[in-house]
Amino acid sequence: MARTFFFVLGSLLLGIFALIPDQDCPVGFCDRVSDCALFEGDCPNNNLTFSVENGGICGCCRACVRFIGPNEACSIEGQRSRLGMDGVVDSGQCLPGYECKDDICAEPNSQQVPCLVKAWNALLKANANPNIRTWLHIPKCEVRRKEETGEETTMFEGFYSHIQCQGGKSGRCYCANPIDGTKLFGYEFQLDVEEKKDMNCACTLEWFERRQRLEHVTLRSELNGNYKSLQCDKDICFCVNGTTTEFIGPFLPKSLWTMLPCYDPEEFPDEMYYPFNSCGHHYNLYRIYADELEAHGTIVSYVNYPDCDPDGTYAPAQVDVDR
Ligand SMILES: *[C@@H]1O[C@H](CO)[C@@H](O)[C@H](O)[C@H]1NC(C)=O
Ligand SMILES: *[C@@H]1O[C@H](CO)[C@@H](O)[C@H](O)[C@H]1NC(C)=O
Repeated sequence: MARTFFFVLGSLLLGIFALIPDQDCPVGFCDRVSDCALFEGDCPNNNLTFSVENGGICGCCRACVRFIGPNEACSIEGQRSRLGMDGVVDSGQCLPGYECKDDICAEPNSQQVPCLVKAWNALLKANANPNIRTWLHIPKCEVRRKEETGEETTMFEGFYSHIQCQGGKSGRCYCANPIDGTKLFGYEFQLDVEEKKDMNCACTLEWFERRQRLEHVTLRSELNGNYKSLQCDKDICFCVNGTTTEFIGPFLPKSLWTMLPCYDPEEFPDEMYYPFNSCGHHYNLYRIYADELEAHGTIVSYVNYPDCDPDGTYAPAQVDVDR
């Protein structure tokens, strides 16, 4: 009985969803959707379908979303999500990264290669020659719903997954820039990543995002890009669980950091926060020096700060700017 009821209600709901094109969603619609389980599940294993958070109709639930493949027919007007008979959402949109040009999904004319374009071309190469599969890098990509931007008709975007692995079982995984896939600080052996599942690159991603905004970042990263347990953001210190990224305990000014549960006197022999003679240590020395000069009225126009990695070691490339 319960099952029949669920089935009838389920198909009814699916039916209603199928009638609503994505762009015409009533305000507050998602509040009335109580059962996302109808949509969630394993996506069909094919290269045009992706599991997308808020990918369901009206952005209510995680759902499998289908895209149009490269060189296949598309139309700008057709870019409206509808629920297919198989429970997969048809986006009507080209595989994210491809553009609908002259009614065909075409590679974009951009210098930056979008993740799915790179992955598709790499797959074609690998299919043509199975022997090269072992060393070919087929990037892992993620599809996300675009933030609401008014006029936009395309609703999904592709990104590089922030953990990329290369080189088979004995290979390495590294933290990557979601926009262009370039390697960021942080790596671990692929086997460890598969077994421990705790590499999350959270600290590295935050670090690079803030650095791009030209902020002075003092977060400290483990070798694998996760947060170290003791963090000071400017002068406020706190403890973090590097695996879950949850805060532990209080937020305290730096002068009281010895009271933090994760404080370890062996790790912090002085007040410099980074290990003695490390890049972070030198960076902070320069900063204190510059701050003091400024406090005494000297305008500091040039400080040759060292380039540090997020773990406080020297970055591989140092730039010595000529005055
Ligand atoms: C995508 O899947 C189709 C059908 O399985 C296959 O013919 C095609 O070669 C695949 N494309 C790539 C790039 O792997
Ligand atoms: C972080 O959280 C995980 C999961 O709750 C737990 O197993 C682990 O012990 C925690 N680590 C620390 C350092 O608290």
